[in-house]
Amino acid sequence: MDWGMKNRLARIIRPDTGRGVMLAVDHGYFLGPTERLEVPRKTIQPLLPYADSLMITRGVLRTSVDANFPIPVVLRVSGGSSIIGKDLSNEKITTSIKEAIRLNVTALALSIFVGAQHEHESLISLAKLVDEGEEYGIPVLAVTAVGKELEKRDARYLSLACRIAAEFGAHLVKTYYCENFEKVVNSCPVPVIIAGGPKLANELDALQLTYDALQAGAVGVDMGRNIWQSDYPVSMIKAVRAIVHENVSVKEAHELFNKLKNTEQSTKTATSV
Ligand code: R5P
Repeated sequence: MDWGMKNRLARIIRPDTGRGVMLAVDHGYFLGPTERLEVPRKTIQPLLPYADSLMITRGVLRTSVDANFPIPVVLRVSGGSSIIGKDLSNEKITTSIKEAIRLNVTALALSIFVGAQHEHESLISLAKLVDEGEEYGIPVLAVTAVGKELEKRDARYLSLACRIAAEFGAHLVKTYYCENFEKVVNSCPVPVIIAGGPKLANELDALQLTYDALQAGAVGVDMGRNIWQSDYPVSMIKAVRAIVHENVSVKEAHELFNKLKNTEQSTKTATSV
C-alpha cells in the first residue's frame, strides 16, 4: 500500500489499538436539520476532542468546524436525494476529488445501495471513487445499507453488501450491527466499522451494541445519533471510546458514563445560569 494511503488509514484506525472512533455528523445531507444536529457547530464542537475522525459533508465542515482543529476528516461525497423524495438510492458523487484534496480530507465516503433501484449507479460511483482515491492515496469508506435497505438488516444481506463494497475496492466498510455479525466481518476482506443507527432506548443499549460489534471483529464505530442525541453526548462518546480503545466491559463503560454525566450536567447548569 502506498505511504499516503497507509498514513491516512492510520489516522482513522489507530495503529496502537487497531481501532477507531469516527463521529458521524453527515446526516443533514438527506435528513436536513436532524434532531440535536440543528446547529451543527453546537453539536460537533464539544465532541471533537474525543473523536479520532469526523464524518461530514463539505458544507458543514466549512461552516461549522474550525480549520485549525486538527481532526481527520472523512468527507461524505455522495448524495442527491432527500428523506421526502422518491428514492433515497438515487445518489451520485456530489463532491470532486479536487475539492476533497483542497479540504485536506483523510478519506472519502459514499453510500452504496445493494438491492435497491439504483444499485448499479451507486456501485459504479464507488468504483470511480476508488479509482480517484487510489490515484491520490485517499482511502474510500463505503457505507452500506441505508434507508429502506435497512429493513434487510441481517447477516445474509449485510455480508452481501459489505463484500461487494470490498470487491469494488473500498478500503473500509461501514455497516449496521446484526445477529451473527461475525459472518459479515469474516467474509469482508477489509476492515468493518459499525454505524449506531437510530437512537436506542438508552445509553446502555448503545454501549452493548458497540461492545458486541467489536467482539465480532468490527474495528470501530462511525456513530452519530447514539452519541449526540444522548442528553450527555460528551459522557457518551467517552464511554464509547473506552470500549473501543481501552477494551473495557459494557458494565465499566456504563459506570464511566454515569460518573461523567454528573459532571456534564453541572457544566451545563453552570453555563446556562
Ligand atoms: C448515514 O448514511 C449517515 O452516513 C450516518 O453517518 C450513519 O448512519 C452513522 O450515523 P448513526 O450512528 O446516527 O447511524
